[in-house]
Amino acid sequence: MKQYLVFNFKNNPQNLSQLDSLLKIYHNFEEGLTRKFSVVLLPPTLYLLKAQEVLKNGFLWGSQNVFWHSKIAITGEVTPQMLKANGVKVVLIGHSERREYLEENREMINLKIKACLAANLIPLLCVGEATKSSQTKLDFKSRQEIFEDLNYAFRGVKLTGGEKIMIAYEPRWAIGTDLIPDLTVLEEVMKVIRFWLSRRFSEDLAQKIALLYGGSVTSQNILSLLRVKNINGVLIGRAATKPLELNQLLKKLRSKN
Ligand code: 13P
Repeated sequence: MKQYLVFNFKNNPQNLSQLDSLLKIYHNFEEGLTRKFSVVLLPPTLYLLKAQEVLKNGFLWGSQNVFWHSKIAITGEVTPQMLKANGVKVVLIGHSERREYLEENREMINLKIKACLAANLIPLLCVGEATKSSQTKLDFKSRQEIFEDLNYAFRGVKLTGGEKIMIAYEPRWAIGTDLIPDLTVLEEVMKVIRFWLSRRFSEDLAQKIALLYGGSVTSQNILSLLRVKNINGVLIGRAATKPLELNQLLKKLRSKN
């Protein structure tokens, strides 16, 4: 599979003129980038249609959120059907910022995954431990935390082979901190997650599920991260909406063979 680059804009940029400048940067790299990678953009929902209008061709579209029910009135949410009808393919679920600031819990995450699969959307589940000790060594507690996230998220989920899911390992201590795990630890985490998937689903399915890394991905570390064994891509936060860094990062990626 082509490696994935997923750009999570979070709650940026703050206005349309900043959005314009940002989209110009993505547009400049569109062709070179999408030939080598599957590139998914996750703009705030408010900007989705505008971004699709400017960047017509190679990018895949994603949402930073979804609500699991389409039959009840719920203020401020988007439904899987709305996303589907507007060209969205991938939905980010269980991001640690939502878990922390909005108290999004594991039951909600499970419901969101089921709603996405039912609507033929690809859930991109974020898992990851809070303890920084796992930066240099994957300890038992961190491993358990990752397994628990996975266990709850996929409770009652049956995959028959046609559905697609993606998983991002985003250790909480690495988000917004300029810290990343040692690459050997990262390789081990990917192996552990793949192992869990093979037990929970099947060996064949486990090999087809894209495993991403997210947390302080920059122009400096992206190429080494993409070389880690078993990694199928990266999830990029701050660098997705900071023009200078975005330019640097896209240049690096374009130069990759
Ligand atoms: P940063 O790249 O800013 O650390 O954020 C990562 C992230 O949260 C991506 O979803």
